[in-house]
Amino acid sequence: MAPPRKERSNRMENNKRPETMARINTPALAEAFINEQVEAIRAQVGDKKVLLALSGGVDSSVVAALLIKAIGKQLVCVHVNHGLMRKGESEQVIEVFGKQMDANLVYVDATDRFLDLLAGVSEPEKKRKIIGGEFIKVFDEEAAKQQGVAFLAQGTIYPDILESDGVKAHHNVGGLPEDMQFELVEPLRLLYKDEVRMVGDALGLPHSMVYRQPFPGPGLGVRCLGAITRDRLHALREADAILREEFHNCGLAGKVWQYFIAVPDMKSVGVKDSKRYEGWPAIIRAVNTTDAMTATIEEIPYEVLHRITDRITAEVPGINRVLLDLTPKPVGTIEWE
Ligand code: XMP
Repeated sequence: MAPPRKERSNRMENNKRPETMARINTPALAEAFINEQVEAIRAQVGDKKVLLALSGGVDSSVVAALLIKAIGKQLVCVHVNHGLMRKGESEQVIEVFGKQMDANLVYVDATDRFLDLLAGVSEPEKKRKIIGGEFIKVFDEEAAKQQGVAFLAQGTIYPDILESDGVKAHHNVGGLPEDMQFELVEPLRLLYKDEVRMVGDALGLPHSMVYRQPFPGPGLGVRCLGAITRDRLHALREADAILREEFHNCGLAGKVWQYFIAVPDMKSVGVKDSKRYEGWPAIIRAVNTTDAMTATIEEIPYEVLHRITDRITAEVPGINRVLLDLTPKPVGTIEWE
């Protein structure tokens, strides 16, 4: 999640990576970084509380683990479940941070708030605005309930700073309010993604969290095309979980940059149990890229495609066809939206 722009412009002098800074590419270097940051965080924060919006993505998870090591329960993690998470994601946040790390975790299930607001809204930009705006509201409400918070932690990483006016800028619907009166704690702000992952590994976070594929802030909201309905969102989430499981089983999960299902708001006729069965298509998208500006298509073996198709059509209520998107970027964007 990117920092509010106003704050960012005031901090430019601290945001330049020194040329002498070694790339963190070994566990020993990650340990050294962690020890150094633990000291720096303690010095900055003192006995005050720090608030963090914990999405469960790589960056916010690594920041959370680092801060928990440094200041324990002085960190208040707020996980907002907007109802558009992938299957198992919020549960993993609760398991890893709430249970295993015994963090001060506030879990807010705001599914109904988001889905009620999104009902009947089909225009992509409107959907994004609603999701972003409501996220800020929910987070604000939780922040107001906390006493003694003086700092806001954020998982800003170096590419966010370098690209603050580039491709990611219009994507950051999950940005926090401009008028929050907190000083920022951004311990990862000079690190590249591979370094953040090294640090996450060294902090003992699960592999599935540290090597998670990119996932947009508005979540499944950009993949449940048109006006979101609960039944189609459920179908999308289940189909996506099957795709991820099968990619994991055949070794594609560690190789493909981003892979997911999109479900359009249209039905076609099919047959199930000898009866007419109208259902939605599940569209598979699996792409490789280095910077998300262009992308190529992963060649998925037909055997795997057949297995995924068989499972999705058999196991997911409402889906009666599985399609494969073969369009590189450009012309297609990575997300359907
Ligand atoms: P497109 O669809 O523009 O996506 O080719 C490029 C990359 O950006 C991701 N994406 C987002 N990431 N917040 C994010 O952090 C967002 O709102 C958002 N929307 C798209 C997309 O998944 C792809 O990796």
